[in-house]
Parts: sequence; structure tokens; C-alpha cells
Amino acid sequence: MTTAAGPTLCVVVPCYNEAPNVAPMIAALDAALAGIAWEVVFVDDDSPDGTADAVRRIAHADPRVRCLRRIGRRGLSSAVIEGALSTSADFIAVIDGDLQHDETRLPLMLAAVQQGADIAVGSRHVSGGDAAGLASLWRERLSASGIRLARILARAPINDPMSGFFLIRRAKFEALAHRLNGQGFKILLDLLLASPQPLHIVEVPYRFRPRAAGESKLDILVLVQFAGLLIDNTLGGGLPLRFLAFALVGAFGMVVNLIVTLLARRAGIDFGTAQAIGTIIAMVANFEMNNRLTYRTIRLRGARYWRGLVLFMLVCGLGAIANVGIARALYHANTAGIAASAAGSAIGVVWNYAVSATLVWRAR
Ligand code: GDD
Ligand code: MN
Repeated sequence: MTTAAGPTLCVVVPCYNEAPNVAPMIAALDAALAGIAWEVVFVDDDSPDGTADAVRRIAHADPRVRCLRRIGRRGLSSAVIEGALSTSADFIAVIDGDLQHDETRLPLMLAAVQQGADIAVGSRHVSGGDAAGLASLWRERLSASGIRLARILARAPINDPMSGFFLIRRAKFEALAHRLNGQGFKILLDLLLASPQPLHIVEVPYRFRPRAAGESKLDILVLVQFAGLLIDNTLGGGLPLRFLAFALVGAFGMVVNLIVTLLARRAGIDFGTAQAIGTIIAMVANFEMNNRLTYRTIRLRGARYWRGLVLFMLVCGLGAIANVGIARALYHANTAGIAASAAGSAIGVVWNYAVSATLVWRAR
């Protein structure tokens, strides 16, 4: 194999807390890709377990290995995009860093794309593959309905549109790069949705292995985010997903507020105190949900969590004052009660969102 020319295949490995899997992963690639000029880019989101160090230790002695370390950001899709954009190899493979995907399928996938397919997808759901490693039943069910929806939206008869294991021509990837949403973890689906024409897909079945070390990072909230991606795409993109999530959480908070206030009233607490208790509990619940859902990729933890909570309550408190003030002013200027109240609430939500985004979560 000559290394004077650049690599033919770049393997992009998104990883978060996968330190114990790094060396076995590189060894597995080395065995599977004999005869192919390859490189591997581990895209690590500043894992606290020292994943980046584990990669660099090996990269020191092996020029085929690279580490892209991102700070202050999280996200499987965006990690893959940045890794893919960092190479000049003609073909790009994406594979999980936990050895759950079958790297021995890569040469077959490469051949399929070299012979003209736009993209080769490692698929768990065609005959020959299976989903034995999938953690639990509810996840399997959720993924089944997700697949049905994704297939329709992607206009492609693909069996495993949620796969995180695929190989694509770099030119194709770059042509689609500007249209990618980049949020969440469904990078393959993101690519399929981004393409103006249906892509020519070849599926390669493989057996999904159980995880040997570390733990899965994909939980129920990641799936909520996925729903957001689909809605965004259906509506033609450009939807402020964060604002929508924030507004939804806010609506949920109003329900919490109401229920807690009613319960407190029933327990014989006077109205003012009951309303105050309801408001505080709703704010804490909203903060927690926004931190886990709306801002999950830049989630606050430790001391920053408590500081964020206090700031959030101050911001929303001011939002409530603005809300009531504006509604009152409009009402006194002869606006209908409902319109005045709606305007007050709308301004309150926008205020809460804008200020907490910059002050509490410091979203860029
Ligand atoms: N850089 C980075 N940033 N990597 C991440 C992040 C992140 O925020 N979150 C997860 N990863 C990495 C993991 O370290 C792993 O290498 C890979 O992305 C997949 O994450 P897992 O947490 O192992 O996912 P899974 O095994 O539960 O999910 C599998 O099934 C999904 C479909 O249901 C994977 O095969 C996914 O690729 C697939 O989409
Ligand atoms: Mn996994």
C-alpha cells in the first residue's frame, strides 16, 4: 500500500466516552481494510473519559489515525459532518465507535459505491442482518414507526433509514452538506432528506453487535429531537426548532402551574401562596426540561446548573412582569381582553426565550 497518495477511504467515527473502544476499533479497521488506502478520523466531543487522548496515543505512531476534538458542542450528526468535511479522500464511511457496527462489511460497501451507487448503507433490517443488539422492546417499537415515517419522507425504499453505518462518495456528501440540518443523531436520514433527487442506495446487511464497553448515549429525548427534524423537513426547513421546543415546554409549564395551584388550594392554602408555589414549581420543571430537551447539546451541569436555575427564574420572573404589564396596557387602550392577554403572553415567551438563550444557556 502506498501512502504517498492520499487515502481512498476516510472512516469517520463519532465518539463520546468511548476510550476503551478506541484501540480495538483501530485494530478492527486495520484488519478489515487490508489493501485499501484508508484513514480514520475520530470526532470526539471533549469526552471526560479521555477518548481524545486514547486516539492521540495511537495517532502518534500511526499517520492513518486522526483526532478531531470539539469543545463546547455535542451531537452525533454535527460530529459526523465535521469529520467528513475534514478529509480529501474520495469515499467517506461513517461507523459507530463502540464496535456495534460490522467493519468487515466496509470493503463490500466501498465496492458498491465505486461501482456507481451514491451511498451504501449497512442495514440491520434486510434478510441476513438482524437487530439482536438493540437494547429493549420499546426502542424496537419506536424505531419501527420511525422507519415507516422516514421511508415516506426520504422517498426511498430503504430498510434501515436510521442506520448510523454507511459509506458515501465525498463529492455527493459535499454537494449535500449545505442543506444538512445537522441536529440530532440521524445523519443518514438527514442526507436522504437533503437530496433533491432520491439517492441511489445499496443496502448491505450486517449483524448489529451488542455493546462491549461503555454505554449508549441515545435516549428518549434524542427521539423527540428526531421528531423535530422530521417536522422541520416536512415544513420545508428553517423552523426555529429551539424556539418551538422552548414554547412547548412553556405550555407544559402552564399546565403544571395550574395543577399545583389547584392542589395547593385544595389543601387549604390561600390563593396567593398557592399561586406562588405553583409558579415556582412550574419554573423549576421548565428549567429542567429545557436543559434536557431544548438545550440538551449544551446541557448545564454541576455548579453551572444551579447558577442557570437561579438566572432562569429571574429571567422568567421579569418575563411574567412584562407579560402582565403589556396585557394591562393594551387592555386599558381598549384592546379586547383575549387579544391583550395573547399579546402579553407572546411577548413574555419571546422575552424568556431570547434572554435565557443568551444569558442562561449561552447558546451560539
Ligand atoms: N462526537 C459525538 N458526539 N459522538 C457521539 C455523540 C455526541 O454527542 N453521541 C453519541 N456519539 C457516538 C457514540 O460514542 C457512538 O460511537 C456512536 O455515536 C453511536 O452512539 P450510541 O450511543 O452507541 O448509539 P446506539 O448504539 O444506542 O444507537 C445505534 O442505533 C441507532 C439507530 O437506532 C447506533 O447504531 C446509531 O448510529 C443508530 O442511529
Ligand atoms: Mn452503540
